[in-house]
Amino acid sequence: MGEFRDLVFPSGFLWGCAVAAHQVEGNNTNNNWWKWEQEGHTLDPSGIACDHYNRYEEDLDIAKKLSLNTFRTSIEWSRIEPKEGVWSDKEIKHYRRVLEAMKERGLTPMITLHHFTDPLWFAEKGGWEKPESIDIFARFVRKVVEELGDLIPFYNTINEPMVYVVLGYAFGVFPPGERDIIKALTVAKHLLLAHAKAYRVIHEVCKEKGYPKPKVGVVHNMMVFEPLDPNDERHVNEANTSDAIYNRWFLESIHAGAVQPPAGQGEEFEELKGAWDFIGLNYYTRNICISSPDPTRRFNVVPMDAELTDMHYEVYPEGLYKLLVSLKKYGKPVYITENGIATSNDRQRCRFILRHIAEAHRAMREGVDLKGYIYWSLIDNFEWNEGFSKRFGIVEVDYKTLKRTPRESAYMYAEIAGKNKVTSDLMQKYLGRK
Ligand code: BGC
Repeated sequence: MGEFRDLVFPSGFLWGCAVAAHQVEGNNTNNNWWKWEQEGHTLDPSGIACDHYNRYEEDLDIAKKLSLNTFRTSIEWSRIEPKEGVWSDKEIKHYRRVLEAMKERGLTPMITLHHFTDPLWFAEKGGWEKPESIDIFARFVRKVVEELGDLIPFYNTINEPMVYVVLGYAFGVFPPGERDIIKALTVAKHLLLAHAKAYRVIHEVCKEKGYPKPKVGVVHNMMVFEPLDPNDERHVNEANTSDAIYNRWFLESIHAGAVQPPAGQGEEFEELKGAWDFIGLNYYTRNICISSPDPTRRFNVVPMDAELTDMHYEVYPEGLYKLLVSLKKYGKPVYITENGIATSNDRQRCRFILRHIAEAHRAMREGVDLKGYIYWSLIDNFEWNEGFSKRFGIVEVDYKTLKRTPRESAYMYAEIAGKNKVTSDLMQKYLGRK
């Protein structure tokens, strides 16, 4: 008997990769991130990025060659609605072609409607701080679904609302660069209600139009929070509070159909009730909790002996298992909508992927209704404040020539997706004792 056994996945399991419009398309000049970049907050400006806007067919060809059956990407709001209430037919047609290109290649589209970027006009009006933001976003969602809904089986409403809130409004490191807890809570509540409204609108429009019934879910970033010293009450409190707010608040509010503290007092909203068909989990790492008056110092703390990624994140595959199991209580199917590593060592990426998939399989054996695994990312891309310095792709992008070259991890992942299992041989090769 060897060290490993084959890990077989159920038929129909989704294997994919994710990207997001602003990080790959290039020339998204009309949103708040572009402005943020011009103001010098990022290591590089996004510029032409990976020119995916023009090269999406090539990228989708690669995804197909790698035996993937799903592709997660976002529709850039600032392209579709360049000025308030003005729709761009040209951009709608563009995204229709992108969706058709996925279909032609057997890639099920999973479409995110908001992935960190806001149209400039929306940001300039006060963005998500304003209660009107909910209806303004819903109007955009309606338009997208009316125009493209015949081709979209999976929607992710808002990508990682808590990351948007924490980095943009608590730590001030993402636009709009605020450090204001009251604003942070207001924005969190508006994103929650915007999610709920979007959920309703998507289903309503699909019904009106006779489109196939899609699946609509949240995409939620979760981290494992653990106290540095389990005997230090301050560390324990910090871990519990972070878990309650960052990991649980959004999910619990939907689960209860009511806005939970601290962003509400349990006010019920009809639209919130049951406003999800699945949960999308984005998992990267664990955060060790200490106490410090400066909130940014409390972020990204890792154990002394941790294996690190180029983002200075701890590699902690077990956390994926723990979080998946913790989602069982909501009784919804789960998709891992992002899991990935920035590293210049592709062997580390191979190990990372295998170890996380193995933990996902362990969670399934314990009854978690997991339906797919989506690696972040297909291609190296613009990593927000880190510019192009961090490489998450299973496919390398040469930023001078824009040439795409699959890495070893791409072929390894293709083998898993193609066979719908992780063979013991593959694990032996990458994880076995030397
Ligand atoms: C985001 C991506 C990002 C990735 C890696 C996620 O939080 O959805 O946009 O590139 O993490 O940091």
